[in-house]
Amino acid sequence: MTPPALQQIFDEAYHLDPYATYARLRAEGGVHPVALPDGSPVWLVTTEAEVRAGLTNPLLSVNKKHAGPGFKGFSLPPALDANLLNIDASDHMRLRRLVSKEFTPRRVEQLGGRVREACELLARRVHDRVVSTGEADLVADLAAPLPLTVVGDLLGVPEKDRDPFASWVGAMLEPKSPQDVAAAIAHIHAYLLALIALRRREPDGNLISGLITVRDEQDRLDENELLSLAFLILMAGIDNTQHVISSGVLTLLRHPDQLEALRADPDLLPETVEELLRHTTPNHTAIRRFPTTDVKIGDTVVPAGDTVLLCLASAHRDPTRYPDPDRFDIERPDKTHLTLGVGLHYCLGAPLARLQIRTALDVITRTFPRLTLATPAKALPWRRTFRSHALKQLPITLSPAP
Ligand code: HEM
Repeated sequence: MTPPALQQIFDEAYHLDPYATYARLRAEGGVHPVALPDGSPVWLVTTEAEVRAGLTNPLLSVNKKHAGPGFKGFSLPPALDANLLNIDASDHMRLRRLVSKEFTPRRVEQLGGRVREACELLARRVHDRVVSTGEADLVADLAAPLPLTVVGDLLGVPEKDRDPFASWVGAMLEPKSPQDVAAAIAHIHAYLLALIALRRREPDGNLISGLITVRDEQDRLDENELLSLAFLILMAGIDNTQHVISSGVLTLLRHPDQLEALRADPDLLPETVEELLRHTTPNHTAIRRFPTTDVKIGDTVVPAGDTVLLCLASAHRDPTRYPDPDRFDIERPDKTHLTLGVGLHYCLGAPLARLQIRTALDVITRTFPRLTLATPAKALPWRRTFRSHALKQLPITLSPAP
């Protein structure tokens, strides 16, 4: 079969407003042959019904062993690749069970006090910075360090190592060159090896120490699986949460009526978090699958081994699913979304992500009643990679008291 002509969608206009590109694609159909910025061919799925069905379709594998020659993903060493997001079926269930008890809603609620304490400390720093210099960056000063602290504590990553780790993750996800990706992955790999060696010598009762016990005393996971679990939880735990907090604050600032409604009635916080997850989904084209056989998605037959990207952000703006989908409305009756996934790979950290976003919004709205943007919204810098839509900085200030 002749391969289809690939659309080049990742242009300047896309980076300025990806939603306009998705709207155009959805009007043409649900599934599109598209070239990624590195030239590799993918099928981009844009309509809600097809994205939702794709997340639970057993013929769509997460495992790279089903990828054909067109796939150019991260080239991870086997020690980092044996993670939940690259494994199907029984091995996936076995590994997920080993860690899921650490992430149950009840277990996570016990972290509430610690999350609030970390958030209030960061908010005080933001306040002091605004008082001394006139403005602060809500990404660098709060949205990024909060999940780094929370997930670092959960896993047992020493405080002094957290910033370097976050900088390697940043270099991997937004590289300046292909060499940057390889160097960042090598740093992350070497660091996790050293961390596991440290926790073998000096257990601290946190998640990595617990997993080492499961590995060494019960032999229920192998060394690569241990390293890969630590890698995935750290990566998945810090990046997305940061982006929902920062673009969530931006969204609220751009919708003052909604911000006022939330300030007037803090009981709207959980609703606000869900509408933010729907409206400002960080994952645009990060969710990938490989058909194990030729598979029909919508009206399109996608050949086995091709790469399918399930575009969550586009699904959430699909007018056939959500009335007036571009409108941010915390009182929207149906806010059900796909931002945390669906099915077997449903986000393990969902309760922890929700707890952090809820706490951050609560602390920010209470501490800063006069919060304003210090830069016009149009001038804000967004990450230029296609995978996630993420603010790099959010300069804020406090407007004078009326
Ligand atoms: C707002 C923040 C977050 C978002 C938007 C998010 C999103 C997602 C999505 C969409 C998936 C499914 C991917 C797929 O089906 O291919 C996923 C899986 C996962 N997430 Fe999250 N996540 C967030 C926060 C977290 C946190 C805080 C943690 C842990 C500390 C975490 C750990 C994981 C893990 C381990 C998986 C793999 C689950 C599996 O394959 O069984 N995530 N996440």
